[in-house]
Amino acid sequence: MAPMTTSAATLPLRDRCGLLRDYWYVACRAESLGPKPLGRVIMDEALVLYRDRAGQVHCFRDRCLHRNAELSEGFVRDDCLVCPYHGWAYDAEGRCVRVPSARPGTPLPKKELTRFPVREQDGLVWVFMGEPERAPAVEPFHMPHHGEAGWKSYYMETLFENDVTNCVENFMDVPHTVTVHKDWFRTESGKEVRATVERTEDSVLVTYHQERDEIGLSTLILNPTREPMVHTDKFYMPNVTRVDYDFGSKRSFIITSQCTPETERRTRVYTAITFRLGGRLLNKLGRLLLPPYTRKVIHQDVEIMANQGRSLSRYGEEFLNSEADLLHRYIESLRDWATQGGTAKKPAPQKQEIVFYV
Ligand code: FES
Ligand SMILES: [Fe+2]
Repeated sequence: MAPMTTSAATLPLRDRCGLLRDYWYVACRAESLGPKPLGRVIMDEALVLYRDRAGQVHCFRDRCLHRNAELSEGFVRDDCLVCPYHGWAYDAEGRCVRVPSARPGTPLPKKELTRFPVREQDGLVWVFMGEPERAPAVEPFHMPHHGEAGWKSYYMETLFENDVTNCVENFMDVPHTVTVHKDWFRTESGKEVRATVERTEDSVLVTYHQERDEIGLSTLILNPTREPMVHTDKFYMPNVTRVDYDFGSKRSFIITSQCTPETERRTRVYTAITFRLGGRLLNKLGRLLLPPYTRKVIHQDVEIMANQGRSLSRYGEEFLNSEADLLHRYIESLRDWATQGGTAKKPAPQKQEIVFYV
């Protein structure tokens, strides 16, 4: 059988995303990884991850060197990854250390599994998708207040049938909150919203000038004393959004979303819900009451993202922008520039005021 050839259009995402591969992407939550091999896809690249007895995490291309079976369906013995098909075993460096069917004395294959740099940070396992030698120069994104005293946080892991750009835009989009999240997050009232939108070298920052805004459950759990709310949204290249709501000086609610591109139109999102409600007991109450609420709201976004994803798959992209979509255009300009390999003129820093109604 001849080797498979690939045209530019069918190249794996990792080989046609320009500079976007030169980042750390979340592969899984740290707590979901043990000695059992875990299969994940990032940028069309199939990966297998496992944790050895010393707690170290290893990550390889999910493809046995023998007859190319997926190693993620195998198992780990003595810290070696064993293929489920004929039992070839690979050590933590990806070297083949055992071929069960080989005549004694036969030299082991020299070829090694393709390895990916891996790190554990803030309760997440991160994989570097660029050339491994570039990894030390890049830091994974730090999740805000992770493990800090006085703060509580939890992760949600969600699959979206849409690309990273549309997902991050959705997470920062305010106008959809009165339709998609009607009665759950914000309800339409024709209120004027003023915001400053700023594009820097590698981020988009939105500051809302609307102290009397409210978000669902805010009065009940987040802001019982009705302090003025300060709301800022940030996008960080290439795939992170951070939405902050501060209520006075003691209460905050932060939603940080890490978007991992699995394929062209599937994104696995790790959402950190981080909060401080002004006391240990209130934090405990928040930890109890917030998950069902945040899950419901995310599920509403999953549905609208799948809807848009279907339409984009059918007809491609042809957007009409309103004033409120300036932040979308800024995000697209940064991601498009990186996808094209960073050779074109870089989008210049810019700041503008916008007005819209919700
Ligand atoms: S395919 Fe993996 S051992 Fe044969
Ligand atoms: Fe939403």
